[in-house]
Amino acid sequence: MTHSLSIAIDGPAASGKGTLARRLADYYHLPHLDTGLTYRAVGRALLIHGLPLDNVSAAETAARQVDLRNLDREALSAHEVGEAASKVAVFPTVRKILVDKQRAFATQPGGAVLDGRDIGTVVCPEADVKLYVTASAEVRAGRRLRDIEGRGGHADLAEILADIVRRDERDMGRADSPLRPAADAHLLDTSEMSIEAAFQAARTIVDEVLAKRNEA
Ligand code: DC
Repeated sequence: MTHSLSIAIDGPAASGKGTLARRLADYYHLPHLDTGLTYRAVGRALLIHGLPLDNVSAAETAARQVDLRNLDREALSAHEVGEAASKVAVFPTVRKILVDKQRAFATQPGGAVLDGRDIGTVVCPEADVKLYVTASAEVRAGRRLRDIEGRGGHADLAEILADIVRRDERDMGRADSPLRPAADAHLLDTSEMSIEAAFQAARTIVDEVLAKRNEA
């Protein structure tokens, strides 16, 4: 009998949670949603229309227009779009509109992998497996720098680090659905781990949950 499997992955910016989520989704043949893209789509819509990022009603309209089947990762990957996403993500009404869409994705038959900031705590509190992926701010800044340089770009490590610290403060400090590990999340500190090692550790956790379920 085929069971459904839902995996919730949370963590701060540049923690490696997205790569891990994609690897797990591939391995367990599950659909994947990077929920950060939904907040990015809202932030980008406001930037494109030249609207202030605290225009809540415009952000709500943009949130209603978000189509999960049509999220352009490339267009949404820009640094300023991430910053804008983090700013519009503080508004509870915007979050509610996006969370409803994310829940619909999470509860599809067969299950899914979702990654973001509030997946284990708010979007999928009933997930079969919850992972909280983190790494020190310095390690995350170093990874981001290598990423930018690997794509032929240039950046300053101190500036990236300052950005990461500011983003952490906003995402962890907001009143509605702040970034924090769910009480039953498995913590995965990847500061000293390769992505391969992080994937193997996560796979072991998921396989243990599946094995327990089969025993039951
Ligand atoms: O994961 P990311 O960098 O693409 O996310 C961009 C911003 O979106 C992040 O700084 C905060 C917000 N976000 C959120 O509030 N809740 C989520 N589940 C995902 C992202």
